[in-house]
Amino acid sequence: MAEHDLHETARALVAEGKGILAADESSGTIKKRFDSIGVESTEETRRAYRDLLFTTAGAEEFISGVILFDETIRQQALDGTPFPQLLESKGIIPGIKVDQGAKPLALADGETVTEGLDGLRERLAEYRGLGARFAKWRATYSISDALPSEYCIWTNAHALARYAALCQEAGIVPIVEPEVLMDGTHTIERAYHVTGRVLNALYTELFDQRVDVEGTLLKPNMVLSGYEASDRAGTDEVADWTLRCFAKHVPAAVPGIVFLSGGQSDEDATAHLNAMNARGPHPWQLSFSYGRALQAPALKAWGGEAENVEAGQRAYYHRAKMNSAARTGAYAPELEHEAA
Ligand code: 13P
Repeated sequence: MAEHDLHETARALVAEGKGILAADESSGTIKKRFDSIGVESTEETRRAYRDLLFTTAGAEEFISGVILFDETIRQQALDGTPFPQLLESKGIIPGIKVDQGAKPLALADGETVTEGLDGLRERLAEYRGLGARFAKWRATYSISDALPSEYCIWTNAHALARYAALCQEAGIVPIVEPEVLMDGTHTIERAYHVTGRVLNALYTELFDQRVDVEGTLLKPNMVLSGYEASDRAGTDEVADWTLRCFAKHVPAAVPGIVFLSGGQSDEDATAHLNAMNARGPHPWQLSFSYGRALQAPALKAWGGEAENVEAGQRAYYHRAKMNSAARTGAYAPELEHEAA
């Protein structure tokens, strides 16, 4: 695939007013989500739930792409259409999670390295054949007084860049996802410092491994206070610290930054994105690639019951619409009630 196509796909994923739905929960994660609503996780319930999301009428006004899991990219809508084709027919770009999870990093107590490079070239070729045009790889970093170590930061950066290079070789846009976890009591300044170190290593490795950053997207955490911190930063501080961090560490050639929600409430995730866009223009598009913050109300409204599919779809459509408003700084909490 030509370089031009990678750039075009990356830009299409951050088209005006649009963002990405992360629906790529692994088998373990989706089971946790289903446990929270008392639904058994089976191949059929997982299929039915993804069907609800992907057949939501009008979601394509706000959603540019959907990240799928290995099982989901092979499943079909109720009418027999494979999910990737269903999404394509609505103008939504199908993507695929290709990492195989964060595993304990040897000789580094409490830290992880993301696995999945072995056989990745062959898997990418298969996913391309199934319709995937972009991919995702997530690395995680914990904050404590001593962590993350340079060892953890550079090992994960190296793997993220190897993944990204393989994606571009296969004609697939890599989303690189370094997630600094917000569990803990740390201050927002500490999250700013750690996120900066992580991004510095990531872009060093991406350049060294010849990745064309114009054909990538960054999926980072926002810079937040630790979730258990006593005095947590408010919306304006989050927007300011996050923008300051990205202005220092993310090349202007990167077409878009698509935030993860990382356990923020759905309305906080929307308000934070909105505050950042209200401070624009920025060198990159600032958008969303939310999992929980787009799905939580839909999952709850559905509750595993066929008769609640429409209610689930309304809840998903609403969150997608709110986050679309946050792409231009046009979101306000009052809109939550108006449109609900
Ligand atoms: P959350 O928005 O729920 O953090 O999920 C996004 C994601 O894809 C994590 O890898």
